[in-house]
Amino acid sequence: MSTNLTWHESIVSKAERAERKQQKPCVIWFTGLSGSGKSTLANALERALFERGHHCYLLDGDNVRQGLNSDLGFSDEARVENIRRIGETAKLFVDAGLIVMTAFISPFRTERELARNLVEDDEFIEVHVSASLDVCEERDPKGLYKKARAGEIPNFTGIGSAYEAPENPDLLVDTGSHDVGACAEQLVDYLAKKGVI
Ligand code: ADX
Repeated sequence: MSTNLTWHESIVSKAERAERKQQKPCVIWFTGLSGSGKSTLANALERALFERGHHCYLLDGDNVRQGLNSDLGFSDEARVENIRRIGETAKLFVDAGLIVMTAFISPFRTERELARNLVEDDEFIEVHVSASLDVCEERDPKGLYKKARAGEIPNFTGIGSAYEAPENPDLLVDTGSHDVGACAEQLVDYLAKKGVI
């Protein structure tokens, strides 16, 4: 922790920014195995919210790892740091008044809880994008499971590295049995029910 720092309150408040955008800022935190459909679903949701006039932003694992987090690999420590930075970034976006979606495997419960605790209680929605390892491996959209099985990717989630599924997510979407349109609809309904949109 750095020392000799002072927190500067901004003159424009989070509430004012949110009001200007006419929405309730929050983090919609997608978690799930590689290939479970996090990015696809988050993109579909972003499009649906955008069409309704909302101000959103999507932080996506594969993209953020090519920029802000390009110094991080896939050891447990690196994943912890990956999620810590995303949690902090999401918090900034919420402060800016946005609905922010994050699509990261985020395999560890502890780090997801840390991310949740960075924002207010009603500002964090954990969405478990649920599809079995068999289904994800069958899909293998990037060919990574095949490589991992061949021993070419150490620490691959679900094979050489753990995935701790949420025990009590705010929402579970079953992408193994439902298509992306139905799952996005389920999310939109949930957000409406919660008064986010
Ligand atoms: S996390 O575990 O730290 O949350 P993150 O979502 O950022 O992971 O990145 C996952 C993406 O990185 C996967 O969708 C895949 O494309 C790629 N990837 C590369 N190596 C691995 C690995 N060892 N385990 C999981 N995903 C990997």
